[in-house]
Amino acid sequence: MASFTLFLFALLFTLLPTAFGQTWTSCNPLNTTNCPVDNALGTNATFNWNGTMADSKLWNTTAGTVQWTEHGGEFIINGRGDSPTIQSTFYIFFGVVSVIMKAATGQGVVSSIVLESDDLDEVDWEFLGGNQTHVETNYFGKGNTTSYDRAIYYPVANPQNEFHNYTVHWTSATIEWWIDDNMVRTLKYEDAVGGKNFPQTPMNIRLGIWAGGDKANSNGTIEWAGGLVDYHGGPYTMTVQEVYVQDFTSGKEYSYGDETGDFQSIKVTNGTSKAVAEISAPHGVSGHWKALSNTAHIAIIASASGSALLAFLAIIFCCIKQRRAGRREFAEIEAQREKEAAELVEYKRQMAAGNFSQSSSMNNRF
Ligand SMILES: *[C@@H]1O[C@H](CO)[C@@H](O)[C@H](O)[C@H]1NC(C)=O
Ligand SMILES: *[C@@H]1O[C@H](CO)[C@@H](O)[C@H](O)[C@H]1NC(C)=O
Ligand SMILES: *[C@@H]1O[C@H](CO)[C@@H](O)[C@H](O)[C@H]1NC(C)=O
Ligand SMILES: *[C@@H]1O[C@H](CO)[C@@H](O)[C@H](O)[C@H]1NC(C)=O
Ligand SMILES: *[C@@H]1O[C@H](CO)[C@@H](O)[C@H](O)[C@H]1NC(C)=O
Ligand SMILES: *[C@@H]1O[C@H](CO)[C@@H](O)[C@H](O)[C@H]1NC(C)=O
Ligand SMILES: *[C@@H]1O[C@H](CO)[C@@H](O)[C@H](O)[C@H]1NC(C)=O
Ligand SMILES: *[C@@H]1O[C@H](CO)[C@@H](O)[C@H](O)[C@H]1NC(C)=O
Ligand SMILES: *[C@@H]1O[C@H](CO)[C@@H](O)[C@H](O)[C@H]1NC(C)=O
Repeated sequence: MASFTLFLFALLFTLLPTAFGQTWTSCNPLNTTNCPVDNALGTNATFNWNGTMADSKLWNTTAGTVQWTEHGGEFIINGRGDSPTIQSTFYIFFGVVSVIMKAATGQGVVSSIVLESDDLDEVDWEFLGGNQTHVETNYFGKGNTTSYDRAIYYPVANPQNEFHNYTVHWTSATIEWWIDDNMVRTLKYEDAVGGKNFPQTPMNIRLGIWAGGDKANSNGTIEWAGGLVDYHGGPYTMTVQEVYVQDFTSGKEYSYGDETGDFQSIKVTNGTSKAVAEISAPHGVSGHWKALSNTAHIAIIASASGSALLAFLAIIFCCIKQRRAGRREFAEIEAQREKEAAELVEYKRQMAAGNFSQSSSMNNRF
């Protein structure tokens, strides 16, 4: 009976979407001083996605599903309407963002790295699937889209087949775009309409893929994206191996002091940010637990409770899940399972060593 309760608990755990932190409706600080504060990163951090999935307290999946594999976070377009996207729950107020990634192939398919603030300052990298020689850099200030003449394309070797390091180095004076070890573009504050169009407010980080070449889009967008997407030619996959983020400000929260959108108006609240607390949380068992797949969670509970029935149900769940994985390569599933198996062994070792924080880490989720 007790183990059956555990099973239901585990099932619930897999079905309920996890919702951490605060939620808010989007709010433009240029129109009101009542917008919610921005949680700061307030430190530097490396997110390796080629071995673990993103921490959902720090990264919110805002559309679709990201596949976590040994290669990295995979953002995949399998068919019409797919546009997996992930967004940091933290903001940086000037800093560095390096993304080690491989763009997706496919005419009309757009892979992107976007830094975006609440008042729509924006710094971009956009990769067009049909263009194997260039990457686009762009920026917007305060959502000013009266012209689209700020985009500049730079040469890059084989962005769809090779991992490259795309870095934005952002201060109140300049924005630099780097491809690997080469700085390709610099924007000075004064050169962006005397600063008016210069991105200067706390930004979060968004990574994603979308079909710029969908037939429902405007002709201009389709043309920019390089033509219509052939949905039968996919899957089209953008792979993010690593994200490094450094916040040049070390604070707890950022807020807008007035409606100017000027960096001088941004208020920094001192203290430890939620992100720092999460990053420095002990990543013992609970860290492992979080990184494990749902199948592994059930398997752990099954073996811990010693129930053959549960083990059987875990296998069934695993197989249903595996069928759902559909187009994922068999080899990839195998690799994933091997990794889970290794983590399971480590988890059991820690359990045997007397660390039983697993149940409390589960309780935290409800
Ligand atoms: C995560 O994204 C969803 C969908 O956009 C949104 O409703 C939710 O508020 C976000 N949560 C956080 C913590 O940002
Ligand atoms: C801000 O207010 C202006 C004027 O009322 C309005 O046109 C604009 O759409 C608003 N922007 C946002 C993001 O709410
Ligand atoms: C953060 O930056 C410091 C100083 O530059 C460096 O020593 C440290 O390794 C960095 N931490 C991470 C997680 O990258
Ligand atoms: C993950 O990628 C980093 C570089 O971004 C590399 O150093 C590391 O070895 C990779 N890990 C695995 C498990 O492939
Ligand atoms: C890729 O983009 C560059 C810069 O816009 C352009 O010169 C080149 O023709 C494009 N290549 C393809 C195949 O569209
Ligand atoms: C928007 O940007 C254009 C240049 O692209 C500039 O001429 C114009 O003054 C800007 N508008 C505002 C309100 O800053
Ligand atoms: C990415 O490129 C930047 C700029 O050249 C560099 O500072 C950083 O160390 C690079 N990151 C990795 C992981 O190679
Ligand atoms: C878009 O392009 C198609 C094909 O070139 C053309 O038939 C259609 O009229 C265009 N629509 C607009 C709104 O320009
Ligand atoms: C916040 O911290 C900074 C640097 O540590 C300090 O100069 C400033 O006075 C602090 N502000 C408040 C309101 O405590």
